[in-house]
Amino acid sequence: MVVGTGYVGLTTGLALGYLGHNVTCVDKDTAIIDKLERGISTIYEPGLEELLRDSGDMIKFTENMHERLPSADIVIIAVGTPSKSNGDTDLSFVEAVGREIGAAMNPARPPVIINKSTVPIGTARRVETVIKEELERRGAACNFCVASNPEFLREGAALNDTFYPDRIVVGTEDVAALNLIRQMYAPILEQTFTPPQAVPRAEGYSLPALVTTSPTSAELIKYTANAFLATKISFINEFATIAEKVGADITEVAKGIGLDKRIGPGFLKAGVGWGGSCFPKDVRSILFTSSQYNCELKLVQAALEVNRLQRMKVIEKLQQTLKVIRGSTVGLLGLAFKPNTDDIRESPAIDVIKELLDMGARVKVYDPIARDKYRQAYPDQEILYCDSAAQAARDSDALVLITDWDEFWHLPWEEIGESMGKKIIIDGRNMLSGEELRQLGFTYTGIGR
Ligand code: UDX
Repeated sequence: MVVGTGYVGLTTGLALGYLGHNVTCVDKDTAIIDKLERGISTIYEPGLEELLRDSGDMIKFTENMHERLPSADIVIIAVGTPSKSNGDTDLSFVEAVGREIGAAMNPARPPVIINKSTVPIGTARRVETVIKEELERRGAACNFCVASNPEFLREGAALNDTFYPDRIVVGTEDVAALNLIRQMYAPILEQTFTPPQAVPRAEGYSLPALVTTSPTSAELIKYTANAFLATKISFINEFATIAEKVGADITEVAKGIGLDKRIGPGFLKAGVGWGGSCFPKDVRSILFTSSQYNCELKLVQAALEVNRLQRMKVIEKLQQTLKVIRGSTVGLLGLAFKPNTDDIRESPAIDVIKELLDMGARVKVYDPIARDKYRQAYPDQEILYCDSAAQAARDSDALVLITDWDEFWHLPWEEIGESMGKKIIIDGRNMLSGEELRQLGFTYTGIGR
């Protein structure tokens, strides 16, 4: 049973169903369950709808976990863990699921409970306590285990990362629970399944490691991984600024250092900064935890600050090229925090649009997928939503590329240039060819090049 049908829950549930397990996906939201039952994906994620369509009888969807919980071998908690305003994590959804598990489970046949939501250190124990309290209330008692099994999937590649992970981390001291979890993941650990058509196995992919740890280490692994990756991006973004000053190209520098196996090439793309539902939240959460322990994470703190400033770099570059922003029309390419998702949470686009509007610009935006999500989140913002990149460019004095969607590789730049007021491009993801665009008469500015 998988509780919660967000990115983590739905992807995990569908993948486990595909691998041959009987899965029940639970969500309190009847509208979500209704859609999923009709084979409609509730989140935008490549391959998900195909898998949903083909899942057949292996997957059931329900709002009510009580009916099937007593017969479940494993219950995976994958509900939301939003940030509180002080950076702490709101565990109310996780604890509510814990209480429901305690209220509905069969003490003679307790399931192994897995915490997959990203949660602060100690949450596995906290969930254990909540379940115990609920059992006591029923006058029942039993031995059961709450293991920590953090998810490392990226939005936009969630199914790929679930079927073909680098590693699976399981934090538990209970041998029987570990064996059951290992059994659940066996098809992935041994890659014995036929890849779904929509999620092919990459050539050269090697078997993932199973990393077994204490629950606390598993919980810390998740935060350490995300804080490290976020810091790696902020690091290259800081060096992008030096690269600009000394006349180097940060993409060349990143290539030059990334080939060193100790550094690795990933997460060295300089740009407008990191966003999304994980990095900002998890970085704040681990900073909060560390402050509770009186231990300052200075590097992580700096990574957060560099990221905040990085978002404004495109505004500075607009000021340098366009000079006066008030009264100008600026076209924005991309609203999502990264390509292949409609997720706009903590997207750099949010800060850039707000700043442009505050500065008196007229703002036109285009995103292949995330437009409706953005409009719902910011219904009062006076911006012009466009149906294509070319439409966002028309009559604009400058274009700012925020999200590196594939389709921006192949835009009809000559035509676009002719339709623009001034031919200025600020490439917040260093994805376009400055040379080509300059030849077409554009004033092109990337980040750190
Ligand atoms: C991240 C982690 O990668 C994943 O393991 C974890 O489970 C959840 O958080 P996600 O938020 O989906 O995944 O996106 P990711 O691909 O990591 O990108 C995060 C942000 O960093 C995006 O805004 C992206 O544009 C930015 N980024 C990424 C860069 O600016 N440069 C890079 O080199 C890589």
